[in-house]
Amino acid sequence: MLDRLEPQAPDALLALIRLYAADPRADKIDLGVGVYRTEDGATPVFAAVKAAEQVLVDTQDSKSYLGPEGDMGMVAALMPYIFGADPTMGGRIQGMQTPGGTGAVRLALALAQKAGVKRVHMGVPSWPNHAQILADLGMELAPFDHANADGSANLDAVLAAINGAAADEAVLLHACCHNPTGIDYTAGQWARIADSFAASSTFPIIDAAYQGLGHGLEADGAGMREVLAKVPEAFIAYSCDKNFGQYRDRVGAFYVLAKEAGALDTAFSNANALARAAWSMPPDHGGAVVRIVLGDAGMTKAWLAELDDMRARMRGVRDALAAAGTAGRIDLTPLASQNGLFAMLPVTKDEVAKLREDHAIYMAASGRINIAGLTHANLPKFIAALAAVTG
Ligand code: LMR
Repeated sequence: MLDRLEPQAPDALLALIRLYAADPRADKIDLGVGVYRTEDGATPVFAAVKAAEQVLVDTQDSKSYLGPEGDMGMVAALMPYIFGADPTMGGRIQGMQTPGGTGAVRLALALAQKAGVKRVHMGVPSWPNHAQILADLGMELAPFDHANADGSANLDAVLAAINGAAADEAVLLHACCHNPTGIDYTAGQWARIADSFAASSTFPIIDAAYQGLGHGLEADGAGMREVLAKVPEAFIAYSCDKNFGQYRDRVGAFYVLAKEAGALDTAFSNANALARAAWSMPPDHGGAVVRIVLGDAGMTKAWLAELDDMRARMRGVRDALAAAGTAGRIDLTPLASQNGLFAMLPVTKDEVAKLREDHAIYMAASGRINIAGLTHANLPKFIAALAAVTG
């Protein structure tokens, strides 16, 4: 039977992790998978997470099953940060825990499909796994251009997608820190997007995987909240992998905005059934950690301070890249006004290969770089290599 399987290429982004690890060159630079790194190139466990883990060690008296919805204390504790002062919007929002942001996206799309959605409009380029999940579910992807050539977000394209979507179609947006471009909608653009959703009754699915890494928790959620305030229904896929640094512990949440509480109960009876069939229940450890951090004023303060430091460091790297002006034919100046971990450089696949082979610089074949892989120490080498390869 196994002879009937066709071999599949490994996920290109995850394959880079292995390639990088196997490279013996001491001055290698990893700009591949999206994890935050310090000025020393480390991805440390947050102090607040360590403190919460200690509390778990000391107090957890059972590892018995929860349920498909996971740690609902964590799900509720996150809501004020995501949805603001009225976190349930008058009882219209509910959530459940998922294995990472990927689990939340998977659940959002699977539930949309169960509710009759066949086609999803999405700005491209996007996180490659969005397309993979859609394909795996047998849903159709309707792509539009996310960005203009000048590095701004393409408002006309997203408005056309929202206004033109049929009743069995949805539009998937990134809440902030767009992956892979770093190009987010401005406040004015979000207002137009929200108005279009309201006028068209197109269904919004919002992927919020990087809240806090752009301009802060509040600012990074503002666009999404503007949409939610104006629509009857929406799905939100949330990740704590980056903003709590809990990547491998897989901490995510799936939220639904519905017209009223009864509709929420029905939606979650379906979401629970989908989760049960897919992963039964999410891993508990990271979710419990988030709940403990957010339930303790001191740990919350430490967490917010660490998030501020991460953001400031990434801003510093962006400013330093932009200050370099150009490297070869690449204009680095737009990077200063972009957000989050990622930026797209207009390099060819061959140039990406040359950067890897000749300069030990690892980045996605798409030209995406992880800003946090750059430090004051390796930035000059990166700029020089980019100039050499694209000049
Ligand atoms: C990334 O885009 O690098 C991250 O979201 C990690 C992943 O799962 O792809």
